[in-house]
Amino acid sequence: MMSRFLIFGLLLTTCSIAFASDPSPLQDFCVADPNSPVFVNGVVCKDAKLVKADDFLFRGLHLMGNTHNDVGSNVTSVTVAQLPGLNTLGISMVRIDFAPWGINPPHTHPRATEVLTVIEGRLLVGFVTSNPENRLITQVLEKGDVFVFPQGLIHFQKNIGNGYALAIAGLSSQNPGVITIANAVFGSNPGIDVDVLAKAFQVDIKVVQQIQSKF
Ligand SMILES: *[C@@H]1O[C@H](CO)[C@@H](O)[C@H](O)[C@H]1NC(C)=O
Repeated sequence: MMSRFLIFGLLLTTCSIAFASDPSPLQDFCVADPNSPVFVNGVVCKDAKLVKADDFLFRGLHLMGNTHNDVGSNVTSVTVAQLPGLNTLGISMVRIDFAPWGINPPHTHPRATEVLTVIEGRLLVGFVTSNPENRLITQVLEKGDVFVFPQGLIHFQKNIGNGYALAIAGLSSQNPGVITIANAVFGSNPGIDVDVLAKAFQVDIKVVQQIQSKF
């Protein structure tokens, strides 16, 4: 009986390790063919004989994103959608621009750990551990500092300077995904029942409706 539980436990552990990141590639590369009508986990490979150097190239990460928006930040993504050569390779990157005092609001990447470095400016960053502790791990980063946001955890960044700030981050998935907490919870389509949100956030229904109206 005990050993059966042990084997089951081992199987579970093995499975969770296998699913903790993108699957390993089974060939040198599998350049994404976004036009294929076939649905697979990832994107279908382009014929290797037709692959060109350009399939492994993205140009323009030196360009600043436009931060004139409500949060004062802009994320430029280089995932498999922008760089087909990333398909099956389990990696991607982003450039994050911050206006003075701008924020990258609390969000999570369902499929990736993120490692971030500050190129310019000073950032307050943090992530919150899962239930029940919900402990905030926070730090002020200076130029050249590197900080890691573990997979799936809610995290944020804030420019705590009067100038623009710039960060570059690597993510452990070709398609990390992003769930911005405020948008997902208050701006879903259709909206989540106000009573659910009022009870969840322990506020009046009017407060929920007011927040929902902003998204
Ligand atoms: C981010 O910057 C790009 C390039 O300037 C712009 O097209 C895009 O609308 C910006 N996104 C947001 C959310 O402001």
